[in-house]
Amino acid sequence: MMSNSIAVELGQRLEPDLLETCRRLGDIAEDGTLFIVGGAVRDILLGRDPVEVDLVVQGDADELAQRAVQFRLALRTAASQFMTVKLTIGTREMDIATARSETYESPGALPDVAPSDIETDLGRRDFAANAIAVSIGSMDFGRVIDPHRGVNDVQAAVLRALHARSFRDDATRMIRAARYASRLQFRLHAETEAWLKRDASNISTVGPDRLRNEFNRLWREEKPVEGLIMLQSWGVLDHLPTASNWVSGLYSFSMSDREAAVRPDDVDDADVHWALIATTVGTEFETLTDTFHLAGSSRRAVDDIRLWKERGLASFNEAKTTGRPSDFTDVLALFEPAALEALYLTGDATESRVIASYLGTWRHVQPELNGNDLLEMGMSQGPLIGKFLDQLRKARLNNLVLNRDGEVQLVRQWMGRGSAVADES
Ligand code: CTP
Repeated sequence: MMSNSIAVELGQRLEPDLLETCRRLGDIAEDGTLFIVGGAVRDILLGRDPVEVDLVVQGDADELAQRAVQFRLALRTAASQFMTVKLTIGTREMDIATARSETYESPGALPDVAPSDIETDLGRRDFAANAIAVSIGSMDFGRVIDPHRGVNDVQAAVLRALHARSFRDDATRMIRAARYASRLQFRLHAETEAWLKRDASNISTVGPDRLRNEFNRLWREEKPVEGLIMLQSWGVLDHLPTASNWVSGLYSFSMSDREAAVRPDDVDDADVHWALIATTVGTEFETLTDTFHLAGSSRRAVDDIRLWKERGLASFNEAKTTGRPSDFTDVLALFEPAALEALYLTGDATESRVIASYLGTWRHVQPELNGNDLLEMGMSQGPLIGKFLDQLRKARLNNLVLNRDGEVQLVRQWMGRGSAVADES
């Protein structure tokens, strides 16, 4: 694609305010020194709308950021690591990186970086399709810098590493390859595939945090299992503790219709995948959490799978004897929604049906009356109010009352009986 046409594509594909921001930054940068790089360029060439843009300046990102503040284009800047600055422009946060060279002391180590020109910056990247820059300078807006023939690769749907040591320098590129190949339907260039397979064992040189971050990005893709199958076929998963079972564990249900059925908005797909993996690891929970430094909600999701196996399933089966939504809710409320999503995907028909109801409806059920309403009805302050509210919630869950009037009647009945809340929910 020639510079004119990519300039037109930029105009059409970038959100108007983002385009305007890029143009204004381009105006205040020294001419021909500010570029859009990486995924956004690739996506524009593919006719996709990029979600965000990465900017690289040939020169000094700090200096450009200061000028952006001087010219009242940006509100605030914060210098960050690796010669990258963060700008707040309107409601947007943007990163601008200084073009740099990278050298790797040893496999898996963080690189030594130094300022350099845009061509060198492109040369340190993962794949030629991601190593294209487009100028956003006022004089040469849309000029394409493509030293590795990445435009060709994008058109041919190929992922090609830039040199034979690429996966030794940075083995996370193997996971990235799987992510891009499955998302974009690209294939690996034959030589790249040979390099990747040769260096597959280097995945164990990557630290747990970087590993987890790259896998999290894979889990959040539309079809993570496709990428996982690639990693398996390249021999990468053989070198990660617990991972040799992942594909067989995730495959069957990832392809089932059930996957699409329950997807609570407040659940991170990454956590669901760690929980799914936890269902495949037998007793190796600690190996899993240590290898990927799982923490926060991911950790809780994995721990909950363990808890389910140890105790949760038994309580669930007990709740089946009454079949009451409130009894199921009492059990399921102890578990992270992400873990429940995983159990929904892997469980038997009853478990799936009940968990779907819990995630979709029951966990949000609340009575219409609140504490003040109960005080106004003549109750006195104290723990009984909380107890009544909880019983009202259960009554709603079990469809014993359907609306506010029903709740009022029920409370009156309970008040008439003194403090004894009937166990009729
Ligand atoms: N990059 C790289 N090697 C890495 C990480 C990043 O070469 N290990 C480069 C690639 O050029 C990539 C760019 O940095 O395009 C930005 O990285 P990232 O935001 O991770 O990727 P995107 O291409 O923007 O990916 P996505 O489409 O998923 O946003």
